[in-house]
Amino acid sequence: MELRERRFLITGGFSLIGSHIAEKLIEAGAAEVVLLDNASIGSPVTVEHLTSSGRVRLVRGDVLRMHEVMEALDGVDGVFHTAAFLTLPISQNPWVGLDVNVRGLMTVLEACRWRGVSKLVYSSSVAVYGNALYGIVTEETPFLGVGVQPVAALYATSKLMGEQLCALYRERHAVDSIVLRYSTVYGERQHSRGVNVLHILEAYDRIRLGQRPIIVGDGREVHDYVYAGDVARANLLAMRSDLSGESFTIATGVATSLNELVRLLLRLTGSGLTPEYRSDPGRVRSAGSTEMRFSREKAAVRLGWAPEVSLEDGLGRLIAWRESTTAGATPPVTPQGGS
Ligand SMILES: NC(=O)c1ccc[n+]([C@@H]2O[C@H](COP(=O)([O-])OP(=O)(O)OC[C@H]3O[C@@H](n4cnc5c(N)ncnc54)[C@H](O)[C@@H]3O)[C@@H](O)[C@H]2O)c1
Repeated sequence: MELRERRFLITGGFSLIGSHIAEKLIEAGAAEVVLLDNASIGSPVTVEHLTSSGRVRLVRGDVLRMHEVMEALDGVDGVFHTAAFLTLPISQNPWVGLDVNVRGLMTVLEACRWRGVSKLVYSSSVAVYGNALYGIVTEETPFLGVGVQPVAALYATSKLMGEQLCALYRERHAVDSIVLRYSTVYGERQHSRGVNVLHILEAYDRIRLGQRPIIVGDGREVHDYVYAGDVARANLLAMRSDLSGESFTIATGVATSLNELVRLLLRLTGSGLTPEYRSDPGRVRSAGSTEMRFSREKAAVRLGWAPEVSLEDGLGRLIAWRESTTAGATPPVTPQGGS
């Protein structure tokens, strides 16, 4: 689908990723971008810099309320579904979290069906691979739940259900969709709801206070950190393409250990501090591994997507943003309720 002069809706539009998608849609010449969010977790502050374009409309609405979604979808060509509870908010409020992740998407798909929306791009997660993190992980790798914490498994399976709901609505009601499975996303307007991004924020906040950054465990745990702007670009490519019914892993393919991450933060901040190692058995975790290699071949070949921002550059942007906001205070994690 052509993006220029088209109208788009981003559910959970006040989200980290939604705000980056909205930015790129405006750059691409979209006629209007509607940001539907009930502000239960996110805040309109994330997108206030976009409202001066005159092409971004903020709508307070709940993906669990059909009439609000139907109203917001009037005249919309394509939907980016980002509204969700990540693992940490799910651990605090599983009732609402699972409702938003599963019934919320069902409501949006049903509304797309009746409003004749051409396509939906669904924000899924590499959590759908669970602990199957040995060897090269491709889009065909099945979920392995062994050893995954219950809340992380609930998040992962809510995303698996989401993917199947997209497939069902495509098969039964001709609602086209693409599934994008992101690894750990970071960037400007970062929140502290992602279990793996917390490693970045916590270490950085301690370094800037002159305190030794804490590494949980022995520091060999790895994650694949992908820049939010690169993820947003993948969303636009998915909407633009003629493909439907396909899933893509959106990751850098590069595993970074907590040791490497903290070393990089210390270098970027010019700090001479050394890390302190602690155990934290009660911590909420995603599937964790000392090995992680996501294939990005399918995204490269079929979508023409590859990450463009290195971890060093991306962390530089995150740090600059954090310094420019309210003295770098950590935003709250606690969800206020779902509807
Ligand atoms: N951030 C990551 O590292 C990451 C990684 C993999 C996948 N994802 C997926 O990408 C998407 C966006 O992630 P994010 O980190 O930008 O999310 P986020 O936590 O920043 O935002 C989620 C948004 O959804 C909104 N929301 C919650 N319940 C709602 C409801 N009932 N109605 C309307 N809006 C509601 C919240 O207010 C919030 O603004 C999510 O689907 C997430 O699962 C994120």
